[in-house]
Amino acid sequence: METVLLDALESISDAFVIYDDGGYLVTCNAKFRELYQYSEEETAPGVHYQELGKIDVSRGNVVISESCQSKEDYLDQKKEYRQRLEGSFIVQLKDKRWIKTTDRRLSSGGFVSIQRDITEEKRNEEALLSAKKTAELANRAKSEFLANMSHELRTPLNAIIGFSSLLSEAVYGPHSDHRYKEYARDIEEAGSHLLNLINEVLDLSKVEVGDIVLSEKTTDIWQISQSCKALTGQKAKENKVRLNIKIDPPTLRIHADPIKLKQILVNLASNAIKFSKPEGTVDILWSLKNGKIKLTVTDHGVGIEKEFLPHIFEPFRRSQISSVLNFEGTGLGLTLVKKFSDAHGADLTLSSIAGEGTTVTVIFPKSRTCLDEELLVT
Ligand SMILES: Nc1ncnc2c1ncn2[C@@H]1O[C@H](COP(=O)(O)OP(=O)(O)OP(=O)(O)O)[C@@H](O)[C@H]1O
Ligand SMILES: [Mg+2]
Repeated sequence: METVLLDALESISDAFVIYDDGGYLVTCNAKFRELYQYSEEETAPGVHYQELGKIDVSRGNVVISESCQSKEDYLDQKKEYRQRLEGSFIVQLKDKRWIKTTDRRLSSGGFVSIQRDITEEKRNEEALLSAKKTAELANRAKSEFLANMSHELRTPLNAIIGFSSLLSEAVYGPHSDHRYKEYARDIEEAGSHLLNLINEVLDLSKVEVGDIVLSEKTTDIWQISQSCKALTGQKAKENKVRLNIKIDPPTLRIHADPIKLKQILVNLASNAIKFSKPEGTVDILWSLKNGKIKLTVTDHGVGIEKEFLPHIFEPFRRSQISSVLNFEGTGLGLTLVKKFSDAHGADLTLSSIAGEGTTVTVIFPKSRTCLDEELLVT
């Protein structure tokens, strides 16, 4: 039986050593000798593991890494590991191979040490880390580029919008042909569309370079809802959609960044209006639940197919339904909503059934709720 076992130990690819409870070698396989370049005599039964450790450092077999500053440090760390016999101990050999030692106590006394070459795993890990770093750098460069570009594009665009507006309004007198007025309006509309898009890209790139700073104050929810109504009313009218806003209690106030909060609301409301069916209804409800402010935006529109839901907050992604039905959009609105909700520590969820409609819920942390009593004090 013993010969069979010893034979088996020789055939495994890991180094294998058994020590008795005093730390003296009982038996080991050839792989162990090969790994550390020990001779047969050096690994004869009865040699102490600390002796082997000393051979390692004196021959420079192991690389003294940053974690162990000196040879003594290395020996101490190994001794400490062998006293605990928990987890594993990783060293690099002078030939650059990485070895992971896992020691376990034996019920008969002593311990068994299994030492595995993990160079391949280490290399993969390092390659992954370096790829991740490169990707992060590239992504940051892209975001910075987009932020700069969109910033630069806004100035001329504002001039285009402003002057085409002057022309479409015929501020300095009538045009010789009525088509000039129409074309000027077309330029203005296209310019505004482009400006919206650029603003979204700029917001997103600002968020991505970690530039998201909240400027928080006690914000009146009624006011935010009114400006949302003003901004989306025209579209609702065009699409024949009824927009209901309910605030319960009506005096609800929130500690938040009013501009970002408005962006959250406007994006959700314009999606709900855009994806509604004609004569549909969109409900915006602000309520208090367990002391937390909860916003729900519900529509009964085209909905979203199940497969797309996991990707809903990814930039530039649009559902199959909205592409097939030819809805306009870039796929940035919800990405921003998610980033702004996260910045407020809010919980954002979206549920939808294709063909039936969509509900988006944002629940803000309790600390953001401003109750009237508090307002009276401040
Ligand atoms: N209320 C909704 N009903 C149906 N689909 C929706 C709804 N809200 C979002 N979606 C789907 O999610 C996609 C992403 O929404 P998002 O608001 O990010 O982009 P968008 O509205 O297409 O463009 P943008 O908001 O950038 O102008 C939409 O294109 C649409 O497919
Ligand atoms: Mg949108």
